[in-house]
Amino acid sequence: MNNPENNQSLSNKPKILVARAIFPEALAKLAESFEVRSNQADQVFTPQELQKELSEVVGALVTGSERIDAGAIAGAKNLKIVANVSVGYNNFDVPAMSAANVMASNTPDVLTDTTADFGFALLMATARRITESEHWIRAGKWDQWSIVNNPLGMDLHHSTLGIIGMGRIGQGIAKRALGFGMKVIYHNRSRLSESDEKACAASYVSKEELLRNADHVVLVLPYTAHSHHTIGAKEIALMKPTATLVNIARGGIVDDLALAQALKAGTIFAAGLDVFEGEPQVNPELLKLSNVVLAPHIASATEKTRRAMVDLAIENLRAALDGKKPPNLINPELFKTLKN
Ligand code: DGY
Repeated sequence: MNNPENNQSLSNKPKILVARAIFPEALAKLAESFEVRSNQADQVFTPQELQKELSEVVGALVTGSERIDAGAIAGAKNLKIVANVSVGYNNFDVPAMSAANVMASNTPDVLTDTTADFGFALLMATARRITESEHWIRAGKWDQWSIVNNPLGMDLHHSTLGIIGMGRIGQGIAKRALGFGMKVIYHNRSRLSESDEKACAASYVSKEELLRNADHVVLVLPYTAHSHHTIGAKEIALMKPTATLVNIARGGIVDDLALAQALKAGTIFAAGLDVFEGEPQVNPELLKLSNVVLAPHIASATEKTRRAMVDLAIENLRAALDGKKPPNLINPELFKTLKN
């Protein structure tokens, strides 16, 4: 534990936890107002360590790697807010947090375009076999230009893109697809308004219809008990043998073992994965395959966006500790309760 305020540990400033490494300037700014317990070593806390850390602070900045449930906050009597540096918040047990009067916040919007860019990049790398081609060159296998004996991919332009999960990021990907002349179909828990559908030129279809008709499928839906294994062997079997599948949503939305088996069997053409079941572990069956592009959960990882995410999480944390409503409060009913 690196505490930039070691010499001020008797200060009257409120104590906060920054559970993972953040940009030094952001940490220094926080230290002006708070006694900061920081973790610049960036080693993920064990559940016991996290519980102990949370028991000593009024607010915490965490990431998706920190599970905030009843156990984690048991004993955190003074904790008012846990601010996620992430738009997804499946690491939060929100009912447990609300029951303990702990506000929960996330970082929407600031990462939408960066993440949509990455979704498109991963889609292109997957369909056009970019990483596989690079490995091929590095392995010294490229000895001549060839019409047929070069890595041949699948076209994106004028193909049909299926997006499952049509929130802000899904819509961002759909808008990018317009530039490639793609036809966009989508499936979502609820249908978009007519004007939003028009803005992305996207048509609503059932999940099965989408899987059967899309040349490329991109997953951007939140992880919940309901979305667990949205894509498994049965769903992959509906897809075209020439199709690609890209997951930038969350591990657990795809049954990774079933996907590896399908990629090996040629049930679909290729996959691009930024997220994995049990990450940072990757199913060893996936690692054996050349028709899968792997990325270490970096869809939001540009310096500008990661800074914006940290800044927004801090804004949420400061608001809660100032008695104001955090701009991205996930459990707003709690704020009402606390105010009354
Ligand atoms: C997000 O913000 O949800 C990204 O996936 C990082 O966790």
